Amino acid sequence: MAVSSSRHDAGATSSGDPSDAFVFFGATGDLAFKQIFPALAGLLRDEDLDLPIVGVARSGDLESLRERARQSLQAHGFTDAAATRALTDHLRYVKGSDDDIETFHALRRELGTARHPLHYLAIPPALFGEVVANLDASGCAAGARIIVEKPFGQDLASAQALNGTIHGVFDEAAVFRIDHYLGKEAVQNLLYFRFANSFLEPIWDRDHVSSVQVNMPEAFDVADRGAFYDQAGAIRDVVQNHLLQVVSLLAMEPPSGRTPEAIRNAQFKVLDSIRSLEAKDVVRGQYRGYRDVRGVAPGSTVETFAALRLHVDTWRWDGVPFYVRTGKALPVSVTEVLVEMKRPPQQVFGEAEPPDADYFRFRLSPDMSISLGARAKKPGEAMVGEAVELVATHQSGTERPPYQRLIGDAIRGDQSLFAREDWVEAAWRVVDGVLDGTTAPAVYEPGTWGPPEAADVLARGDRWHDPVAS
Ligand code: BG6
Repeated sequence: MAVSSSRHDAGATSSGDPSDAFVFFGATGDLAFKQIFPALAGLLRDEDLDLPIVGVARSGDLESLRERARQSLQAHGFTDAAATRALTDHLRYVKGSDDDIETFHALRRELGTARHPLHYLAIPPALFGEVVANLDASGCAAGARIIVEKPFGQDLASAQALNGTIHGVFDEAAVFRIDHYLGKEAVQNLLYFRFANSFLEPIWDRDHVSSVQVNMPEAFDVADRGAFYDQAGAIRDVVQNHLLQVVSLLAMEPPSGRTPEAIRNAQFKVLDSIRSLEAKDVVRGQYRGYRDVRGVAPGSTVETFAALRLHVDTWRWDGVPFYVRTGKALPVSVTEVLVEMKRPPQQVFGEAEPPDADYFRFRLSPDMSISLGARAKKPGEAMVGEAVELVATHQSGTERPPYQRLIGDAIRGDQSLFAREDWVEAAWRVVDGVLDGTTAPAVYEPGTWGPPEAADVLARGDRWHDPVAS
């Protein structure tokens, strides 16, 4: 499948060359503090990373950036003194603003002989266009790669415009759209489990599966992220990206070929076959008290909860509902997939209580496990059964955190775990029709499972399966 691009050659990177400098814009910001410093320290410790790390920010100096890096590592439980020192030793600093070309000339000088810098835009998306243009004008884009954070656009039109801007300078092969869900070990295992086991394929379809649901309740509220969240809402924040990634891994066809690109092709193909959402497929909710959060507009109609039903229009999945539910201030913080199987055609044992259907459950966070729910006979004379679960837990404690894995991949030029242009645009196309934030969402009490109306998206006989805390 062709990936369109309208770049000129300056930004093209030959895929074999690892990056030889790491630049991050927004060096004093929240994302750098929470994710980028710990990821870089992890890479220096685990992978002998050895390249200059250049922070770009408006204020401070090299010493204050080093101090911030130390604080970040301390705050994230990083006790390895050698890795901390390695990070601070590798740090460089360019002071300046994103709209000043002089900043970029200074950056080019700081990059010295580096020919393949990797630029991480840990800055608000509104600034992407300016930074990309200045990288180009200063020569910093030549031979470079770029990492862009979510949200990648606000809707389909803005995502397309953003892709156009970036492709004006960078070839698609040099663009790394980060979605940290793809770097999660448990999400990777979803893909592995599906295609490394032969028993699954014959039952992974409309004849055997009755419904699929992905639940991502979060017990915390928007806290100090009001200003950001009120521009986004649950659908933009986690459905368009993380949860549709999970759905595409669950629903995709086997990749044709062994290349990473074959997997991305299959992920795109299934997403492309998901019907665009309509109002009847979605219930939006807002927890009571959200409008009082700092940064939130007084009469905000932004949703903090969404329950939706997806239609995957493929031969394999015809008629099988894919449900997605997420929200802030719900009872637990768990991400879980439940694939419910069809019941046997006849009740051979005439049990008084109709047995629950079999299922596969994939716990993606905070714990990782795969379980198969089935029926087994209770010991005794009667042919009466009970629900049993065969569980494979999957947590070694040594998994690399998603940002470490993904930044390491980007440095090596490996795009397998990054969202491709066509995937991102297809995901926006799926949600575009229900982004309208003008209708007031249903109010729910914090600590509950959202508004009761969430049941309206379910097909007859289905129910939401509330994940339980670990
Ligand atoms: C982020 C969202 O992308 O993902 C947050 O902006 C959300 O609102 C978070 O809480 C969930 O990711 P994780 O890995 O913490 O479960």
